Amino acid sequence: MGKVVAIDGPAGSGKGTVAKILAEKCNLVYIDTGAMYRAIAYASLQNNIDISEEEKIVELAKNSKIDFIDGKTYLNGIDISKEIRTMEVTRIVSPISSIVKLREILVDMQRNMAGNSNVIMEGRDITTVVFPNADYKFYLDASIEERANRRYKENKEKGMDVSLEEIKENISKRDYNDMHKEVGSLTRTADSIYIDSTNLTIDEVVEKIKNIIEV
Ligand code: DC
Repeated sequence: MGKVVAIDGPAGSGKGTVAKILAEKCNLVYIDTGAMYRAIAYASLQNNIDISEEEKIVELAKNSKIDFIDGKTYLNGIDISKEIRTMEVTRIVSPISSIVKLREILVDMQRNMAGNSNVIMEGRDITTVVFPNADYKFYLDASIEERANRRYKENKEKGMDVSLEEIKENISKRDYNDMHKEVGSLTRTADSIYIDSTNLTIDEVVEKIKNIIEV
């Protein structure tokens, strides 16, 4: 097995942006586990499956192939990178990610994806469930106001028209749901390095982590 850099944190804490940059700088394979839950949420919508139909969602996941190629997310060979960032998907992804059997399938996929490469993997349960023995463990955080502002700016740049209030409400709900899951809930472990990025730039966070990891 290669080296594993595991990062957990709430929505908008900057883990995606930071992990992507570190992957390039340090030659690591980047695995965005949130994108995998989003892919299944998107597939459920496409197949008209309601979030209460857990067995169907689990079946869907069993028949899904998720790949990350050149920074894009593919579901069964189709690029769905843009589709998984819509508000429609964002609204249902947290409840869908609470389905225990779905988590088992995706956690297996995540461990297999790591293979023998050096990886940087980010999500909610990487330091606790997927790779509790990771070489480096981080918990990235920021205030709810700052996280909502970041998402608001990101959406605007992508041409998405969602109000700051709606984003803040969605993030608060997801925070609560993601921290109160039966399995794989977002937890700050005692052995994770805690970084509060509220008043830090992306580059400052990248530097902090880069100075710690030896990969
Ligand atoms: O990181 P993100 O916002 O793209 O993640 C989308 C959702 O997926 C998030 O609300 C919780 C869930 N998730 C999870 O349960 N476990 C992970 N390892 C990653 C994401």
